[in-house]
Amino acid sequence: MDPRLPDVCDRVLLDADALASRVAELAEQVTRDYEGDDLRLVTVLKGGLYFLADLARSIDLPLTMDFMAVSPYLQGVGGVVRVTKDLSDDIDGASVLLVEDVVDTGLTVNYVLSLLRAHNPARLDVCTLLDKPVRRIAEVPISYRGFEMPDRFLVGYGLDLEGRYRNLPCIATLRDEAVLA
Ligand code: IMP
Ligand code: MG
Repeated sequence: MDPRLPDVCDRVLLDADALASRVAELAEQVTRDYEGDDLRLVTVLKGGLYFLADLARSIDLPLTMDFMAVSPYLQGVGGVVRVTKDLSDDIDGASVLLVEDVVDTGLTVNYVLSLLRAHNPARLDVCTLLDKPVRRIAEVPISYRGFEMPDRFLVGYGLDLEGRYRNLPCIATLRDEAVLA
């Protein structure tokens, strides 16, 4: 058990080693698939930051990173209200890989994909660390998937509960009392 696991957490589903080895595998696939491309990693703040940083360091290609932010997720409520930070770089004609922490209902990724598409990238794909297919509302084309996860609220490695626990090195479930509180 991870010594840093806070009281609100129940169980570690993915420890740091499991995350690191899967991220390395995904990075190998991306390295193979994007050889020779103008690769741009785009992530949605703040949850995707940790995955992006580790993935990018393992991809053996020249690339750039850019960030978007959308209005905060309300627990149990899918969908996105507005963009709070837009891209900084021009992605016209580039190969964009949208790097996400988790696809749950799919509404966030679909919304972000529609915004990115409007900038005319040559190629646009989704790489998500976690996939929670049980709650899917909008179909999402996922090209790279780290782990399929059960329908539980998760924290760590970027995932938060009201802004906290993103910095846990593992991914853990919350105790039921913490989810309800
Ligand atoms: P979707 O629009 O329902 O696919 O939700 C995607 C967003 O919801 C993610 O980027 C997260 O910010 C948040 N989210 C979904 N599941 C979890 C979770 O288990 N823990 C923390 N945040 C989550
Ligand atoms: Mg997110």
